[in-house]
This record gives sequence, structure tokens and C-alpha cells, in this order.
Amino acid sequence: MSAAAALATPPLIVPKVEPAEQASVIAIEELAFTVAPRRPGAAPTQILADVSLTVHEHEFVSIVGPSGCGKSTLLNFIAGLLPVQSGRLTLMPTARRDRVLGYMFQQHGLLPWRNVQKNVELGLEVAGVPAVQRASQAREMLEQMGLAGFEQHFPRELSGGMRQRVALARTLVLRPEVMLMDEPFGALDAQTRIYIQELFGQFWEQHRVTVLFVTHDIDEALFLSDRVLVMGARPGRIVAQYEVGIERPRSHEQMRHSPRFQELYDCIWQDIRRQSQLSMQGATDE
Ligand SMILES: Nc1ncnc2c1ncn2[C@@H]1O[C@H](COP(=O)(O)OP(=O)(O)O)[C@@H](O)[C@H]1O
Ligand SMILES: [Mg+2]
Repeated sequence: MSAAAALATPPLIVPKVEPAEQASVIAIEELAFTVAPRRPGAAPTQILADVSLTVHEHEFVSIVGPSGCGKSTLLNFIAGLLPVQSGRLTLMPTARRDRVLGYMFQQHGLLPWRNVQKNVELGLEVAGVPAVQRASQAREMLEQMGLAGFEQHFPRELSGGMRQRVALARTLVLRPEVMLMDEPFGALDAQTRIYIQELFGQFWEQHRVTVLFVTHDIDEALFLSDRVLVMGARPGRIVAQYEVGIERPRSHEQMRHSPRFQELYDCIWQDIRRQSQLSMQGATDE
């Protein structure tokens, strides 16, 4: 057996129970994306191939996968930033994509000339919410994010973790029905990251907004999610999925001692390692 073939051994899939009774909010079937070659005569590049996934209402789903496998590209399709070339993508409810979707990235994207309060109010302002109402909604959300007392601060006066909590408040205050999160905590140091994961985890347990969360951190994916999808590279597609099945509320201490967590961590680690090696060799496991 060649090295590539050995690496391509199908991953051990932990049995998954499909929550059939829940409505699907994001449904993707065989989504593919190919880009034209930069040089005439060169072959087109296939970025995504046959990506199929479903995210159910009130479900927290994470995607993990090696860098460059197409995670951000996939979120861009769901956000409507890229037109579908091939395959099907259904987002429900479909009425107002701009209002139902909240998008959050690694970069906080706060406006430096607006204070914390005014940054959080921005989306409400654009949506035409009256001043008194948006001020109180922003204050309430800042309090939930542990930022009461920082309303008048400017982004440059805050730590990285605080800025990212402001960015989280700015997205959550719009009460999106679906959140697309692209490595939102990726730039934070380990302790800050754990704190913000616990804060967001607690918020999520209260509100159960539907979330599709991209991360390269397996701990983070397992801590927050109901289900974890593993994405492979060249071209990007879903190669495995795992039902987390660890009861909530969760704590990092409890997770670390959970045999289920260890088992899932090992499976996902092996999957990602295999996919990274395959992508470095430029091989495919078809
Ligand atoms: N419009 C595009 N044209 C050319 N290449 C693209 C385009 N969009 C994405 N890519 C390539 O697709 C791959 C996946 O990118 P990305 O989705 O950012 O990966 P990830 O978020 O998993 O790190 C990268 O190699 C990127 O350069
Ligand atoms: Mg990315």
C-alpha cells in the first residue's frame, strides 16, 4: 500500500444520531466551486467538491480542518457572498438574509473612532432602531459579555479579548437567527480564549441560536458544539462528522476528564493529521 493510500484509510466515524425532528436551517447538497486558472492553458483549481451538510435549528455545529481547505470559502457561500456554481444551498428562513445571519471573523472589525457603546449600536442604527431602544439593548448585551463599565472606552483602550467580546456583543445584539463564525477567537491567547468560550457557551445555552462555527482548535470545537464536521483539503469536502454528546452546561475541567472528549479528540486529531498530510502531498483520497 502506498503512503498516500495508507493515509487515505477511512476515518473511524463515531456513530451519529440524526436529529430528524428538527428543521434544517442550512442545507447544502453537493456544493462545488472551481476557479479559472491564472495562466492560460493551466488547469482550473477545484476549491470545494461535493460538500454536503445540514445544520438544524438551535444546533451548534463546528467545522475543523487544515488551513486552506476551504472553510472560509464555504462560509462565504452560505453568507451569499459567492454565487453558487454547482450544487444546492438552502438557507431557512430565506426572507432577509442580512437580518437572519450574523457574521463574525477573527478580526474584530470595530470602528476605531466609535466607543464601545456606539460600536455595538452600529447594526441597530443601520436597521433604524430608535436611539433610546438601541442604547438600552447595547448596554444589556455588553453587560452579558462582562463589559459593563466599558461603554465609553474606545477599541484601542481594550485588550484583544475585550475587543472580541465587543464584536460578539455587536453581532448578538442584532438577534440573528443563524451565526456564521470564522475562527472568531483564533487570535486570542489560551486563557482569554477559554474565558470567551465559556462566556459564549453560557450565552448559547440560554438562547440556542443556530451556529456554524469554523475553528482549527479541536478543544474549542468539542467544548462548544453539538456536532463537529471535519473538512479535508484539495478539494475541500466534509470527510467525517461526530456527535459530541457531552451534556451541558460544560466546563473545560469536566471536558478534560471526560473519556468521551478524549475519544472524540483523538479521532478528530487523526482525521486532521491525515488530511494535512494528504494536502501536503498534493494527493487526494478518492
Ligand atoms: N476566488 C478564489 N480564487 C482563487 N483561489 C481561491 C478563491 N477563493 C478561495 N481560494 C483558495 O481556496 C483555498 C481555500 O481557502 P479558504 O477558504 O480561505 O481556506 P481556509 O479558510 O480553510 O483556510 C485557498 O487555497 C485559497 O487560496
Ligand atoms: Mg479561513
